[in-house]
Amino acid sequence: QVKNREVEGMMRRYLPKTSVEILHNLGRVGDRLDLPVYAVGGFVRDLLLGQRNSDVDVTVDGDGILFAETFAAEFGCRVKSHEKFGTAVIVFPDGFKIDVASTRLEYYVSPGALPTVERSSLKMDLYRRDFTVNTLAIALNSQSFGKLIDYFGAYRDLQAKVIRVLHNLSFVEDPTRVFRAIRFEQRLNFRIAKHTEDLIKNAVKMDFLVKLGGRRLLSELVQILREKEPLQGISRMASLGLLRFIHPSIELTSELQAALEEVRYVVSWFDLLYLERPYERWAVYFLALCEVLSPEQFWATCTRLAVSEHQSEHLAEMRRQGAELIGAMERKLVRQERLENSDIYFTLRGLSVEILLYHMARSGNPETKRCISLYFTKLHGMEPLIGGEDLKRLGIKPGPIYRELLDAVLSARMNGRVSSKEDELRLVRELQS
Ligand code: CTP
Repeated sequence: QVKNREVEGMMRRYLPKTSVEILHNLGRVGDRLDLPVYAVGGFVRDLLLGQRNSDVDVTVDGDGILFAETFAAEFGCRVKSHEKFGTAVIVFPDGFKIDVASTRLEYYVSPGALPTVERSSLKMDLYRRDFTVNTLAIALNSQSFGKLIDYFGAYRDLQAKVIRVLHNLSFVEDPTRVFRAIRFEQRLNFRIAKHTEDLIKNAVKMDFLVKLGGRRLLSELVQILREKEPLQGISRMASLGLLRFIHPSIELTSELQAALEEVRYVVSWFDLLYLERPYERWAVYFLALCEVLSPEQFWATCTRLAVSEHQSEHLAEMRRQGAELIGAMERKLVRQERLENSDIYFTLRGLSVEILLYHMARSGNPETKRCISLYFTKLHGMEPLIGGEDLKRLGIKPGPIYRELLDAVLSARMNGRVSSKEDELRLVRELQS
């Protein structure tokens, strides 16, 4: 059995000092209100695995909202509470958040529906969770600070690296857990227990997942695709027959496998460039997964997954436009060996990072890959040295001509035909004469 001191040692080793202090303070507020307080769930799991997890979840044996308000008043935090669920979020001035729950029992009235909530004990609260490894709690009150509470053999499963449900109806109650099992298995490098895997297969066979709303399915899929190594999660989804819930025509063929590996390669290359261009990595994988789908099927999939209409349109349009533009670029490449930098820039500049990476991955043409890479590393973000003010000083009347002239200057700069401000001004004068 793990001793309180060992848990405290792990806190000191793996958590920032301020977090440890906050945990003590949570316990002290609990002492004063005479309420038992526990850190629970993923936070405890990751702490015992020596992995950083800054999402602190706290459960209070009693009125969690009162607890959160008392804590917040003392430490200058804000509280957002949810009376109906007995939950609250403590928000620190620097934005750090702690989720507070009251021990409760949630009934799932029907599979996939939102739970109905009632008060109960810590043990019941932990029993309703998805997997044993998420059922650990650490006492925070001063007298018992660091005491590990393990009702369901979670510590044993953590050591054995096993993902195991607590009871046979787990996936029926909440089919999103099928995807969570895969995500934890891959992320923690654990193994789904045999019986748990059988329950997943059964849930898939019995079509429980069909009842899952599109939004929840998308959210689970996105989380799998956001993991560091999404390919393993995808191949596990394939082996458990889950890809068909995205669209019945999606299958992990050797072509798709190769395409996904190429996406992985391109995405890691892009991440190493540190361009600070935010993008949705999951969307690149998603586009690759949907490669076989016709425009109608792609649209149907986005609708099924409740992707917002705006984003669906954006993705569908980009998919089409990207294929078109890159096709045009490749046709040009057949005619001439190299494209001018300005050609590459003006072809690609309207496309999102996601679409460019997706096409970079799917194109078999090394020259196309080189063009997209050059666009990211050199061309994107290039600007002429002169601006509108300079054109005004040259006596040119403002209007659409400004855009044309500045684009012409930019082209010349990209193609190495001008390199100084004087060159650029000379070029403008030439173009105007
Ligand atoms: N939970 C559950 N069933 C779900 C979702 C969540 O039982 N469908 C439980 C899990 O036991 C989890 C807790 O609710 O520990 C909090 O959920 P979440 O924050 O999603 O889980 P974490 O374990 O913190 O996962 P992550 O590390 O990905 O945030």
